[in-house]
Amino acid sequence: MGAFAVQPREMTCHALVHAAHDAFRRDLDRLAAAAAAGKGGAVHVRAGWENLKDLIRLHHDVEDAVLWPRVERAVAGRRAERAVLAEMRAEHAGIGSLIGRVDVALRDGGDLPRAVRELREAVEAHLRHEEMSAVPLAESVLGPEEWRAVADEVGGRCEAGAELFVPWVVDGIAPVERSRFLTALPVPLRERNRVMWEPRYRKRRLWSL
Ligand SMILES: [Fe+2]
Repeated sequence: MGAFAVQPREMTCHALVHAAHDAFRRDLDRLAAAAAAGKGGAVHVRAGWENLKDLIRLHHDVEDAVLWPRVERAVAGRRAERAVLAEMRAEHAGIGSLIGRVDVALRDGGDLPRAVRELREAVEAHLRHEEMSAVPLAESVLGPEEWRAVADEVGGRCEAGAELFVPWVVDGIAPVERSRFLTALPVPLRERNRVMWEPRYRKRRLWSL
């Protein structure tokens, strides 16, 4: 996920992944509420959904292209560990098709609440699986050097990632968690977020009805 582009020294990969996962859950709750209210087509809901899709894509691209290959190399020959990573990739693909079904329901006026429910269940199962198996595995086999290399590679791949990621993570979170997350960021990023990214993000009024 894009998180690694901004991985601060004070914050573990674990904490960063959890912050991102909570933001996915929050947005999916918002989408489910809008769908249940028959407001899936509202302009700011559509914008929130497009933004969420960008973040999911970023998360999957970073994990599949940058993070999992490093973990795979580190566990070469260990069948059970490699199977966990294969499951991560398969779950990402499954989530991709369920996102497509939400898009179809939005476009054709299909059963949006059902499409959202199926997506939410798949995402929740995937996030838990990742939190319980793949993230601890990555943390156990990758050393600080490799995490730094992951952060560098991600930073090079998606420069826009931090701008997308930081204000999205702190949207609506409790004040304590918000300040914990923001103060752990490198100062230039925190400043850019305060001056530009968050004001810009708020102006978009994502998910408002
Ligand atoms: Fe994932």
